[in-house]
Amino acid sequence: MTTRVAVLVGSLRADSVNRRLAEMLRDQAPEGVELHLVDGLGDLPFYNEEIDTDDAASAVLALREAVASADRVLAVTPEYNGTMPAVLNNALDWLSRPYGAGAIVGKPFGVIGTTPTPYGGKWAHADAARSAGIAGARVVESVVVSQPGVEVDVLTDPEVRERLLDALRLLVEAEPAPVAA
Ligand SMILES: Cc1cc2nc3c(=O)[nH]c(=O)nc-3n(C[C@H](O)[C@H](O)[C@H](O)COP(=O)(O)O)c2cc1C
Repeated sequence: MTTRVAVLVGSLRADSVNRRLAEMLRDQAPEGVELHLVDGLGDLPFYNEEIDTDDAASAVLALREAVASADRVLAVTPEYNGTMPAVLNNALDWLSRPYGAGAIVGKPFGVIGTTPTPYGGKWAHADAARSAGIAGARVVESVVVSQPGVEVDVLTDPEVRERLLDALRLLVEAEPAPVAA
């Protein structure tokens, strides 16, 4: 059986270090694990209940479908001004609705990422985990990894790679939340 992991990348930069880490995990994922990087987060309109209708923007429908069809959700993100980048926050808002039945509800959720500081983006990661939990995801606390990008090249360091692959394995092993009757 294949476990599908939807990956939300919090940076829109073409040369994003976090995107490249997500691509590394996709390319080196364990057997039976497929990572799908969800494109188009930058095309999402800002969340607004007035446009959250049956004919919502195609980027919204694509995001919801990508997450609904996944078994797990992994955010890979830097930190902006002490929290998660707006593009990721906005994606989580879209995934949180309809209330109680959003595409992310019940899905095991992890968040990892790096910034070029000794903290590695830990505020962004804590905020993303809290937000996803409130949105209904099942946050896997052991899959919150804030990798400092100082004194190490996070893209080539074997220990960093193993740390992130371990986090991915833990996310895959996590049980989804039981669906309410
Ligand atoms: C608007 C902005 C705000 C930032 N704020 C923080 C911050 O609060 N903490 C931090 O560790 N890095 C911060 N950074 C630095 C980013 O972590 C760094 O640019 C990182 O490499 C971006 O990730 P990426 O390579 O995946 O795009 C900020 C960068 C930008 C552009």
